Amino acid sequence: MAEVWIDPARCQGHARCFMLAPETFEIDDDGYGHVIAGREGSYDEENVRKAIRNCPERAIKVIGA
Ligand code: F3S
Repeated sequence: MAEVWIDPARCQGHARCFMLAPETFEIDDDGYGHVIAGREGSYDEENVRKAIRNCPERAIKVIGA
């Protein structure tokens, strides 16, 4: 099963992931994006694809796809 994650070394807090796929991503108190706990392997593929395309830092990854 493919899993989505955000590379913390790349994320700069643009929040487009949260705007495009709020069911999968959240923004922490410092403004950085994370995958909501438990949603790593269960997500809306179309929304996550949009988030991947729109993250300026290319921080969103899908592994095992
Ligand atoms: Fe970070 Fe990209 Fe989202 S920079 S907050 S993963 S849009």
